[in-house]
Amino acid sequence: MTAQATKQERASQLEVLATEAAACTACELADSRTNVVFGYGDPDADLMIVGEGPGQREDEQGLPFVGRSGQLLDQLLDEIDLRREDNVYIGNVVKCRPPGNRDPRQTEIDSCKDYLRQQLRLVDPKVVVTLGNFSSKLLLRTETGITRLRGRAFQWWGRFLVPTFHPAAALRGSASVLADMRTDFQLVADVVAGRLVYEPAQDASGSEPTAQSPPTDEPASQMGLFS
Ligand code: URA
Repeated sequence: MTAQATKQERASQLEVLATEAAACTACELADSRTNVVFGYGDPDADLMIVGEGPGQREDEQGLPFVGRSGQLLDQLLDEIDLRREDNVYIGNVVKCRPPGNRDPRQTEIDSCKDYLRQQLRLVDPKVVVTLGNFSSKLLLRTETGITRLRGRAFQWWGRFLVPTFHPAAALRGSASVLADMRTDFQLVADVVAGRLVYEPAQDASGSEPTAQSPPTDEPASQMGLFS
């Protein structure tokens, strides 16, 4: 999307894509879904959140993160003074619910990834937050798990990417998971407020974390989602 594109233009192009996705039968998830969960939020958002895929509630309502994980996500956003309809856009790696909430298969991701790519292009956020292992490893193209990835802002394709735990992990897990998520969302607030400066020289699309968070393990490589 060009810098000149208006919010209205972004919104209408996202709507065209959503209409296309609503009729998508490119993978077998189409057979079992109730609704396609394309995405929701501000088409002009500074922050884009990427989850894994819709669960039962999302499938029923056609909206992302409307169950218990969504409530926690809303709370974390509220704590940094953001709301999902205002400066936030929420999407998932796959737009249809995998039966029984199993992990999406590679063929399903491949069928769906152009939608995510287009959402990123149109919304053009300052920062992408990946929730959980699945979307973090996929977008950063790394085998490193979320426990080691989190706590940093990666410079990624001209913007920042902050990987953090999935809210479901905080709901299941110890209080420390939620505390870590709060720390990560503070990093997000810093990016949104312009307190982290993007340095193009460091951008290897995920291979070099920012100076605020030096690398401690194997680097993420180029993001295959765009390849
Ligand atoms: N979990 C996800 O990853 N996405 C949703 O939309 C809901 C739950």
